Amino acid sequence: MFDADKVSRLNIPKWEAVFRAEIDPGVVAIIAIHDISRGWGLGGCRMAHYDHESEALTDVLRLSRGMTFKNAIADLPLGGGKSVIIAEPSISGEKRQRVLENFGRFLTWINRDRDIYCSAEDMNTTVADMHVVKRFTKHIHGLDVDPSPFTAWGVFHAIKFTVDYFALDFFNGERSLQGKTVLVQGLGKVGQALLEHLDSAGARILITDVREDVIRRAQATHPGIEYIPPETILDHQVDVFAPCAKGEVVNSRNIDKIKFKILCGAANNQLANSQTGLDMHKRGVVYCPDYVANMGGVCAIQYHEIDQLSHQEALDKIEKTVRKMLGLTYRAAFRNNLAFNEAVDHVVKKLVWGGMETHGEFFNDKLFPLTAHSEPNEA
Ligand code: NAI
Repeated sequence: MFDADKVSRLNIPKWEAVFRAEIDPGVVAIIAIHDISRGWGLGGCRMAHYDHESEALTDVLRLSRGMTFKNAIADLPLGGGKSVIIAEPSISGEKRQRVLENFGRFLTWINRDRDIYCSAEDMNTTVADMHVVKRFTKHIHGLDVDPSPFTAWGVFHAIKFTVDYFALDFFNGERSLQGKTVLVQGLGKVGQALLEHLDSAGARILITDVREDVIRRAQATHPGIEYIPPETILDHQVDVFAPCAKGEVVNSRNIDKIKFKILCGAANNQLANSQTGLDMHKRGVVYCPDYVANMGGVCAIQYHEIDQLSHQEALDKIEKTVRKMLGLTYRAAFRNNLAFNEAVDHVVKKLVWGGMETHGEFFNDKLFPLTAHSEPNEA
């Protein structure tokens, strides 16, 4: 059973609140709420093994801050939060059931005064898991919508907008996607849907994936596309590189080899670090920030489940928001002489905090007293 006495509120400067609870013997969950200036925090719950609890804390803090930025650039009335359950992802049966039920009770407990955080599925948790959580809390979302087609739609419009915006710089003023070369890395849920949109727009498409079956399927349905082996992605002169598989695709080891003009895809954390963004900028390569391009998934949750918009209304709104936020980002980069990765953070800071990153006085310290220790115990 969930025991509120086993909850502590950790003292983490610049985070609205971070809660830690033992939700089952030996299983700790941490919920980090980074900022609720724009609305309650939304961000998924991942289940993972960590060698030390401090690693889980670092992870959840980084991810929850990322959600503040993503929800803000998506122009949603939401703040940023995230949760982790420190457990082997393979736990099953009664134990998994208990852990999820108690995670639901933990969510209800932290939201007992006001709505501050809603969770959703994430790495190593499933929609079925979240249905178990939902039996014990109303603070759960993302159960009735598949985000991937919406993510792909947002990425497609990010590519379209960026090609158009930089048409004079790169394409002799040719603004359409017709005939432009796009390399899609990863033909999973997002990459496959993106491929359809690019094909309809007349782009010349190169694809790569580590799975032969998905390549065969794509070639059967789109005979004009060209397959390239995964290890050769940087050998090809393409207009747009669209990573839809994994992060850190550009780093200090490969930056001198890149031949694409625009980097724009669905994968999170495409740059190894912020220096990579500066280095790309110096080389005249346009980086369409990943968390703008891939905002469609989180928008789908808000538009469908909360605002109850139709499928088409949600798509239209995603297109409009992606275009608007990319316009703001590119303009901010030129006006302030910033690299694109810096410019997007600048835009978010304006949207959330009016410029500087500061934090509101939203928290009820009497209801949730701070726990004496500021560092979590080692697991
Ligand atoms: P997925 O797991 O369905 O597809 C990933 C594809 O990439 C698979 O076909 C896999 O075989 C391939 N792949 C893996 N490693 C590769 C490599 N080294 N080279 C080439 N291909 C490789 O994932 P999904 O849902 O399509 O997401 C794609 C990316 O977008 C992920 O990084 C994900 O975190 C990110 N993302 C997805 C969202 C969504 O709504 N699904 C929302 C926001 C971000």
